[in-house]
Amino acid sequence: MAKKRVVVLGSTGSIGTQTLDVVRQHADKLEVVALAVGTRTDELLAQAREFGVRHLAVGREEAAGLPVADELLAQARGGEGSGSGSLAFGPEGVAALAHLPEADVVVNALVGAAGLRASFEALSAGKVLALANKESLVVGGDLIMPLAARVDEQRRVRGAAPKAGPAGALMPIDSEHGAIYQCLLGEDEREVSRLWVTASGGPFRGRKRAELEGITPAQALAHPTWNMGAKISIDSSTLMNKGLEVIEAHHLFAMPYDKIEVVVQPQSAIHSMVEYSDGSVKAHLGTTDMRIPIQFALSYPERWSAPVAPLDFRTLGSLEFAAPDTETFRCLALAREAGRTGGTLPCAMNAANEVAVAAFLAEEGTYLGIAACVEAVMEAHAAEGVQQVESLGQLEEVDAWARAKARAWVKAR
Ligand SMILES: NC(=O)c1ccc[n+]([C@@H]2O[C@H](COP(=O)([O-])OP(=O)(O)OC[C@H]3O[C@@H](n4cnc5c(N)ncnc54)[C@H](OP(=O)(O)O)[C@@H]3O)[C@@H](O)[C@H]2O)c1
Repeated sequence: MAKKRVVVLGSTGSIGTQTLDVVRQHADKLEVVALAVGTRTDELLAQAREFGVRHLAVGREEAAGLPVADELLAQARGGEGSGSGSLAFGPEGVAALAHLPEADVVVNALVGAAGLRASFEALSAGKVLALANKESLVVGGDLIMPLAARVDEQRRVRGAAPKAGPAGALMPIDSEHGAIYQCLLGEDEREVSRLWVTASGGPFRGRKRAELEGITPAQALAHPTWNMGAKISIDSSTLMNKGLEVIEAHHLFAMPYDKIEVVVQPQSAIHSMVEYSDGSVKAHLGTTDMRIPIQFALSYPERWSAPVAPLDFRTLGSLEFAAPDTETFRCLALAREAGRTGGTLPCAMNAANEVAVAAFLAEEGTYLGIAACVEAVMEAHAAEGVQQVESLGQLEEVDAWARAKARAWVKAR
């Protein structure tokens, strides 16, 4: 079988490097054809050399002036007389890799709303989108899902879709959504009564609001079960990550919000569950290693071997469950509210969160200020009038407006 040709956007990040690990394990089935990063150009060069990649992009435009840019160009040119590679700087160059003719699959492991354009481009070009960048769906689910349905249809028509089950145009990498995707295989979606999205509870599980005053970035970055990028680690600690995942699940599985529940499962052994109309529940369990859901997103409809120790139920011990504390972790409730309202409110909510998290990490804002900033910007957007989602340009405008509001809010504190 021909190798799947993969574009990895955000290749230096937590998901990006683990994606490259999966490619190393399955070099007979996968080939990297393009790589994009934000700033870490030395790592990009090393990756490009290791995987023989000739299409490269760097989000930060100023990187074009660095000495390493010459080496990246030489790598893209691939030696004398060969000119089929490319090197680009800036956001357009990153998004352009998503419609590279020689690519089959785009892994979107960018962080934040900056990833939306690449998701849009990948599906517009008829590629399979393996999506880690949940913000794409939170902000632009109303635009992305119809595109995914169109690619599913194209895949069916040209015989690229599996004989049974979803056509696979949009493959979630988030472990919860990968789990739900697998629990739904072979089932009639009309018989689903609830999705149960599991949450580890983050490093501050069990604490009350007063105990969260004065939390430092280092404390919030220490996630109990997953080793992830800085932004998602903070989102996990505030439960905003779970809120984003609820919105992501709503779009991915066309599920109303009152059928999506969050349950705290501190061991993170159950990655999520689906409950059916007869009360039966299917759960997805596995070792907490993101390479498994990344690999499934690339191997579907097949399963390939993975270099991770499987769960040993004899030593697993007990599994605990609890309701999330949304009084203390208000971001989850705020995200749900944004999702239920829909339109451009999730876009404004997400932008405010990105600004507040960045301010907290830079020690310019407080931990409890994150939820307060998100709430203030949501209120301001609701007062101005939430709009129906119509275009990428409109979402970019709302995103910029919400960021400016959030920055002003942080500055005024
Ligand atoms: N980490 C996890 O376990 C996990 C699990 C589920 C879902 N996710 C989701 O996956 C996404 C990525 O998370 P992560 O933890 O892998 O983040 P991360 O470690 O911070 O990595 C982000 C990647 O995106 C690149 N990047 C950032 N801004 C960019 C820009 N403007 N243009 C081009 N590249 C840019 C970074 O490049 P530089 O390093 O060069 O700056 C890096 O390669 C997020 O949406 C997250 O919610 C992550």
